[in-house]
Amino acid sequence: MRTALPLFFICCLFWACQPAQKLDLNLQSPDGHINLNFDPDAFQYTVKKNQKAIMAPSQLGLIFKEEIANGPYQLINSTKNNHQEKWQPVWGQFDEFEDHHNEMILNLENAQGFKMNVIFRAFNDGLAFRYQIPAQKTKTSLHLIDELTTFALAKEDTVWWTEGNANTYERPYQKTLTTALDSANTPITIEGENGLIVLHEAALVDYSDMRLKNVGNNTYKAHLCPWPDGTLVKTQSPMQSPWRTIILADDLNGLVASSMILNLNEPSKIKDTSWIHPFKYIGIWWGMHTGYYTWTEGERHGANTKNAKAYIDFAAKHNIEGVLFEGWNKGWENWGKGNFFDFVTPYDDFDFEEVADYAQKKNVQLIGHHETGGNIPMYEQKLDTALKQLVHFDMHALKTGYAGGIIPEGQPKHGQFMVRHYLEVVKKGAENKIMINAHEPIKPTGLERTYPNMMTREGARGMEYNGWSKKITPEHTTVLPFTRIIAGPMDYTPGIFNITYDGQKQRWHPKDTFAITRVNTTLAKQMALWVVLYSPQQMASDLIENYEGHPCFKFFQDLPSKWNESRVIDGKIGDFAVIGRRHENDWYVGAITDEHPRKLKVELDFLEKDKKYRAVIYGDGPETDYDKNPKAYQIKTIDDLSSADRLELDLCKSGGSAIQIIPL
Ligand code: NOJ
Ligand code: CA
Repeated sequence: MRTALPLFFICCLFWACQPAQKLDLNLQSPDGHINLNFDPDAFQYTVKKNQKAIMAPSQLGLIFKEEIANGPYQLINSTKNNHQEKWQPVWGQFDEFEDHHNEMILNLENAQGFKMNVIFRAFNDGLAFRYQIPAQKTKTSLHLIDELTTFALAKEDTVWWTEGNANTYERPYQKTLTTALDSANTPITIEGENGLIVLHEAALVDYSDMRLKNVGNNTYKAHLCPWPDGTLVKTQSPMQSPWRTIILADDLNGLVASSMILNLNEPSKIKDTSWIHPFKYIGIWWGMHTGYYTWTEGERHGANTKNAKAYIDFAAKHNIEGVLFEGWNKGWENWGKGNFFDFVTPYDDFDFEEVADYAQKKNVQLIGHHETGGNIPMYEQKLDTALKQLVHFDMHALKTGYAGGIIPEGQPKHGQFMVRHYLEVVKKGAENKIMINAHEPIKPTGLERTYPNMMTREGARGMEYNGWSKKITPEHTTVLPFTRIIAGPMDYTPGIFNITYDGQKQRWHPKDTFAITRVNTTLAKQMALWVVLYSPQQMASDLIENYEGHPCFKFFQDLPSKWNESRVIDGKIGDFAVIGRRHENDWYVGAITDEHPRKLKVELDFLEKDKKYRAVIYGDGPETDYDKNPKAYQIKTIDDLSSADRLELDLCKSGGSAIQIIPL
């Protein structure tokens, strides 16, 4: 009897190891091009595409404060599944996506009997994996202190990235060798011999944002944003991590067409989505960034009843559904001074009731605005009441903002505490039928599939920087579509026509700041950005007086907000981008260039074969000069175009072309 127990134990161990040797630990994409292999002894994975190494052996693993949950883990079993399904998003760059993947689930167990799963999915456009702690015999509280995940890049390539920062995604893009990256926020985009690689994450729920830290040997390690006490994630069994994603594409079109991030998120949890739809909007906004208006009450207060009504009139007249007004509510005088915003009480010169009535009569959708300044306890306390006020005024859209350091102090903007908060606002929005556009948000990880009222967000350096700095380079917008926007839509807020702020000079900036400030593009490039930078809520961001009577504004008026299909017609990250989008039979194309003037040939082979089309091209003209005459443009109409034709575009320094192509 005495020896029976150890013998039984040895048998168990043997049984546990035995199947591991026989298990097939290779996973292939449905088309067979992408290959993953898992090594259970080293707890590492490798990735190949078309037989070429993409990831050298790369580490997996989680380390918890609770010893009971830590490795070494033994592989108990591995199962494989296959999934193929088409699904239609409520809105998107495409009207249909396909989720086609092979899956491998590894069941692991440590010596204490604690269980963990690693799930891999191989798609034709990349690979993903996540950790899962299933329900254990008893509920275990867990404190993650390290995530061991690495991405050991097999080749030294070029990478586009922004600085890894726990509080902002708004740093400028850098282009370096992969070995020279220090620490980056995701997504990052790698360009190399084996095509394009985007490293990011999907379904970031109740976990901390993953940055990437270069740990040498061309290897990036997951670097999670900690709680103030240093813990990375506070959780309990059962739990699962976000997906770690490796998009693999042959070209830029493949990158933009990748639906892997969305596919890794759950289908919509909102049953009735009839109230959710993409739209275009204008707003009382740019004036505050240039100093022409103020958010606070006073002589130059932007959001007053009179201005709001003028914006509503303009929207109604020009086929624009939404109007945003910022600075309507009391508390802006506290911005940066404790951030005590009032989310329900309007300033005295803003009659909310009257404005809302007026908007309803004109069939215009008002967009609410809650700037929190980062004061989370205050916002969470007032959120229900503030949302109810929007419901009262029959409003279904809200822009939120987190411009300021987070309160409670010490909480990073991208830590688990904030990840929870951002999603909470989206869920509460859904309960109240309110679409969300978050500024200073958590990065997009495809959750808009699950909560389609999470429409758009900032989360990268946006237009506003042109209002008060020289920090938007002509190159910046040629990088965004292939980096940040691969993760999800962006509310960049393009469309400034008064490039040099003539007649609307900044009055609160020091004179020297004003002297150096302008929008670093031509007018036509601003228009092209409406197509190039995808957002289901697209803004024409200038003051309405700069659009009134302007022949170019017809483009925005005609522009759809719903798309059936999108494609990268041509482009090179950091140099230029030509992107086309189809709404029913009409195409809209945006072409932009960096600081170099460029002649582009746009093949029209995406048009239907036996149809004739008219193209209206709003572009830089012979008079346009980036330095001396950036507001000059040319509108050309070309008839009888077919799919065999090509358009020749002549872009100025930081110039562009916005093109409407409709069947005759
Ligand atoms: C920063 C946002 O990005 C911007 O759009 C907004 O106008 C200001 N915060 C004020 O809320
Ligand atoms: Ca911002």
